[in-house]
Amino acid sequence: MKIVQPTLTSIRQAAEIIRAGGLVIVPTETVYGIAADATNADAVAKIFKVKNRPTENPLIVHICELSMVAEFARAWTETAETLAERFWPGPLTIVVFKSSRIPEIVTGGLDTVALRMPENQIALDVIAASEVPLAAPSANRFTELSATRVEHLGDELINAVDMVIDGGPCRFGIESTVVDVCSDPIRIFRPGGVSRAEIEAALKQPLSSSPPHGVRRSPGMYARHYAPKAKLVLVNVLPKGAAGLTFAEAKDRQIHMPDNPVAYAANLYDSLFKIDKLGVEEIFVEWPPDSVDWEVVRDRLKKASA
Ligand code: TXA
Ligand code: MG
Repeated sequence: MKIVQPTLTSIRQAAEIIRAGGLVIVPTETVYGIAADATNADAVAKIFKVKNRPTENPLIVHICELSMVAEFARAWTETAETLAERFWPGPLTIVVFKSSRIPEIVTGGLDTVALRMPENQIALDVIAASEVPLAAPSANRFTELSATRVEHLGDELINAVDMVIDGGPCRFGIESTVVDVCSDPIRIFRPGGVSRAEIEAALKQPLSSSPPHGVRRSPGMYARHYAPKAKLVLVNVLPKGAAGLTFAEAKDRQIHMPDNPVAYAANLYDSLFKIDKLGVEEIFVEWPPDSVDWEVVRDRLKKASA
């Protein structure tokens, strides 16, 4: 069986696959990832192929302990250390200058690498057993919705990898925050599981969100991304009889969404997958509040509707 439960045996097998240059879909606390040995350029090339992902879009490198940073980051600043101590393991990805141990294909030719320690024991165990960091993008095809449950993975993806570890639903349900500490001021490339306010509080300084000048923008900033197959339409109130996500009571072909941003984020992709499965042409989604705590949800909805 290709889809396995997490056990000591399956984790050992996953590690063998990774070390042999194969691909394993692993759960994390944010979304599922398609993992390969980050130090093996040929293995990483398979990820791009399977995802149909442009090669200039760099991958996140997942580690299982802080000591691994020394090997894969060329410069590890005090800011990076503060963020790692406060948020790792957890949904924060820190972009730092890379060491020569990271092949160019991982970073799309950039001089920086995105590092993250996931807060999921299965993912941490696979990394530890593999004894290499894992390059792992979200388990979806380029621009499509990220999988937060094994049921979201299409047959095409499952057939293209060597193993899938079923870790149940992902707790956060939305990708990690990507923060760049190589720039001054520090900036957020992609909002995610850790909020801007939490990062600003940890660093005791405000962050910039303006796109970098002269440098290529982070590819997470593609306008269209995280999109269902149906056209996603943002509205203030769901039109009568429309399929979609609502804050009000759900009728037929509708899903009631929580009015708490964290719970909403955890359910967003799964809810979109469910409505998408009905084969509708349009999914209507009620626009969430404009307050800062809804920033990440608004970001994903905007990109899904672009
Ligand atoms: O929660 C997550 O981050 C999930 C799980 C699997 O860890 N991973 C994920 O990976 O969302 P992916 O490949 O779908 O998104 C990675 C994001 C992209 O927006 C990419 O541009 C950005 O991280 N990124 C990676 N390396 C970068 C770098 N060196 N500089 C700037 N952005 C980078
Ligand atoms: Mg992705």
